[in-house]
Amino acid sequence: MNKDKYRPLYHFTPRSHWMNDPNGMVYFNGEYHLFYQYHPFGMTWGPMHWGHAVSHDMVHWQHLLIALAPDEHGQIFSGSAVVDWNDTSGFFGGKPGLVAIFTHHDEYPGTERQRERQSLAYSSDNGRTWIKYSGNPVLEDPRYSDYRDPKVFWHEASGRWIMILATGQTVCIYTSPNLMEWTFASEFGEGHGSHDGVWECPDLFELVAPGNPQRTKWVLLVSIGDAVGIPEGSRTQYFVGHFDGKLFVNERDPEAVYWLDHGRDNYAGVSFSDIPAGDGRRIYLGWMSNWKYAKVTPTEGWRGAMTIPRELSLRAVDGEIRLIQRPIAELSKLAEETLLLKGLTIEGNMRLMQIKGDSYLVDAEFVLGSATSFGFRVRVAEEGNRATIVGYDSRSGELYVDRASSGEVLFHELFPGKHGVALVPRDNRLRLQLWVDRSSVEVFSGGGECVITDLIFPDPQDDGLEIFAHEGNVELLSLKVTRLNS
Ligand code: FRU
Repeated sequence: MNKDKYRPLYHFTPRSHWMNDPNGMVYFNGEYHLFYQYHPFGMTWGPMHWGHAVSHDMVHWQHLLIALAPDEHGQIFSGSAVVDWNDTSGFFGGKPGLVAIFTHHDEYPGTERQRERQSLAYSSDNGRTWIKYSGNPVLEDPRYSDYRDPKVFWHEASGRWIMILATGQTVCIYTSPNLMEWTFASEFGEGHGSHDGVWECPDLFELVAPGNPQRTKWVLLVSIGDAVGIPEGSRTQYFVGHFDGKLFVNERDPEAVYWLDHGRDNYAGVSFSDIPAGDGRRIYLGWMSNWKYAKVTPTEGWRGAMTIPRELSLRAVDGEIRLIQRPIAELSKLAEETLLLKGLTIEGNMRLMQIKGDSYLVDAEFVLGSATSFGFRVRVAEEGNRATIVGYDSRSGELYVDRASSGEVLFHELFPGKHGVALVPRDNRLRLQLWVDRSSVEVFSGGGECVITDLIFPDPQDDGLEIFAHEGNVELLSLKVTRLNS
């Protein structure tokens, strides 16, 4: 048994046992807090706790004690945390403090019907210890059985706290002056976007409007649970519109579905709360797995990792607003040596002998040529027979990751395969950024508009890197490979 065989070098993982969704991400007193759905006694999902870690840069994390454990109201499901700057809750004797808003999950008494209610916990010592509010739960509605994953933020214009909650096939918005008393404001979702599975883990936030720094748009993230007959499993969609403190209005075609990520392994992601206005970034990360096979991935002793943190923004693409993701600048702290190449014509397969390893960043710019497909083979086996392919198919106009022969793939029938997204190169050029770690690839292209996040489980010895062009050539304008180390 090799516990760390697939342990990522620079992605967050629990020290041991099972992890799913990121929870309660908040910045306070110089620290980023990451809580997460945690089963501290098992390698599969079980009674949910909130695990906890802190960081100064969102890249290096320090593990802390479990923050919240199940109690008489049930398990601790997903939720958020905020800084109560003005002590609206009265928990902190006039000072600022941290409040977590989460779902208590149990069953309606005398039945097997799941009951989900929203509760509070607070901390006056920078999140080191947590006290559950004696008035829990603070929000319930017996009409619902799926009623969870509260994301809360302070809405300056209306001077109220806003909660967005997943309510089956919709999200509901509530408002509160003090985090304890909540008033229903509106419901969104019917007739909008994908309803392939249960709606979970919503987030609602404001970003600068493209082409007009004076204005903003509101983005609503909604994760869609796994369902029978949906080969993609669990994934996340987003909406763009406006929000007035009560009502979210989707400004795009209600029927259209916009996916945040086109790989299989980015779920239940939400953004950090309380990043200082002077920084101004909206930073997101997700759980790098899929409910389809999360419980059987071939790691030992620990299971589950988070994506790298990504800065979100909006851009108009062909007259339509798209969500853009960029790896956060702090990740450059991981950079070690780099390899630079410029102005090469690529034909066939070329092994980059200078780079061997399991964790690096590839940043390349191509000019399309006659090749029908081109790109990289990463984590290549010595004999070349195993690799993860990250490429662009010029015939179908698709950016893709093919993990069919990436290593261990047979633990679930839907794991092996190829996942792609349509991408139209501008001026015949294509820029690709790939973040490779011991058990994942994250691909960013189209200026951050096209993202593919996939788990892979290659043998640790499969450490080669190749560049390829099939049935023709492609021009490699520039290539930078940066070895990454924690
Ligand atoms: C999403 C989710 C949430 C829930 C949590 C339970 O992955 O199903 O809706 O709160 O996981 O662990």
